Amino acid sequence: MRILITGGAGFIGSHIQDKYIELGHDVTILDNFSTGKREYLNQDAALVEGDITDENVVRRVIETGNFDLINHHAAQINVRYSFDDPVNVCHVNVIGTLNILKAMIDFKVPKIIFSSTGGAIYGSPGNLPVGETHPLNPESPYAISKMTCEKYIRNLSDLYGIRYTIFRYANVYGPRQIAKGEAGVVAIYTERLLDGRPPIIFGTGDNTRDYVFVGDVVDANALALTKGDGGIYNIGRGVETNVHDVYNAVSKAFGDRALEAGFGEEVPEVERIALDASLARTDLGWDPKVDFEDGVIETVKSFGVNVEGRFPG
Ligand SMILES: NC(=O)c1ccc[n+]([C@@H]2O[C@H](COP(=O)([O-])OP(=O)(O)OC[C@H]3O[C@@H](n4cnc5c(N)ncnc54)[C@H](O)[C@@H]3O)[C@@H](O)[C@H]2O)c1
Repeated sequence: MRILITGGAGFIGSHIQDKYIELGHDVTILDNFSTGKREYLNQDAALVEGDITDENVVRRVIETGNFDLINHHAAQINVRYSFDDPVNVCHVNVIGTLNILKAMIDFKVPKIIFSSTGGAIYGSPGNLPVGETHPLNPESPYAISKMTCEKYIRNLSDLYGIRYTIFRYANVYGPRQIAKGEAGVVAIYTERLLDGRPPIIFGTGDNTRDYVFVGDVVDANALALTKGDGGIYNIGRGVETNVHDVYNAVSKAFGDRALEAGFGEEVPEVERIALDASLARTDLGWDPKVDFEDGVIETVKSFGVNVEGRFPG
């Protein structure tokens, strides 16, 4: 297949890029390197450096690419930043996505895989793990932007027959994660410990997230190349992990060099979340394989830490 990955130089997109190339697909990356890194680009991927908010760039890439599928991962992903600059978040996430959809319609690209958020789109549901039919209750400009994209994709699919698979990811973590994103806490704690600074737990630390390893997310994106048309799927393990558990798992990977956590003021965010991904299991045959502690060890190792408990060098 000929595949365009937007955001393919980023954390999740670059892993998807590697998998698609391994599967023998022809991959082009569209990225503006705002958070993505050139070193993550696969030497077998073609690169277009550009911005999804630039309609001309998007149209040119899609017109000339003859793509069978667009895997759309480029976005402004920082939830806290989205409160400070909702206009920019809307511009990148919503207008950027509309530019892509419009070009797909005009140049007849049959399918899009879209990365939405299961961690933020449902708000704080009463019963966990939450399924896809739960009412949407986004509590941040970031989550509102993702919900809006989902609705545009479904609407334009109804009108123009574009096929789609929408993934609502839980908190994705793993190697190459930047310490600034929606779910960067594993990377943040790892970076702080490497710098000799204590990890900070904001508020009580009792709030929970559903952590899914990036390799499992990549598997979902590989399955959606041939399955899952018209589907919206939660991608998570359905397990609640609180901030203390994250601190403990990262500390364990650092061995006796870990530092006591510090505490900071509570920040407004979803209190508890875990996703029911049974639909992805049934429709796609998706089965997450990596449990949290193993995934944390992989992540910490990727920062150059000797996971036996010694720093490199
Ligand atoms: N990380 C998570 O836990 C998580 C959870 C839910 C959803 N998502 C979604 O998955 C996608 C990828 O997230 P990530 O964690 O890999 O983030 P990331 O910041 O590592 O990757 C985003 C990539 O998009 C690029 N990009 C950003 N704005 C762009 C623009 N205007 N034009 C072109 N390229 C642009 C960046 O340079 C980067 O390479 C995002 O859409 C995000 O909302 C992530």
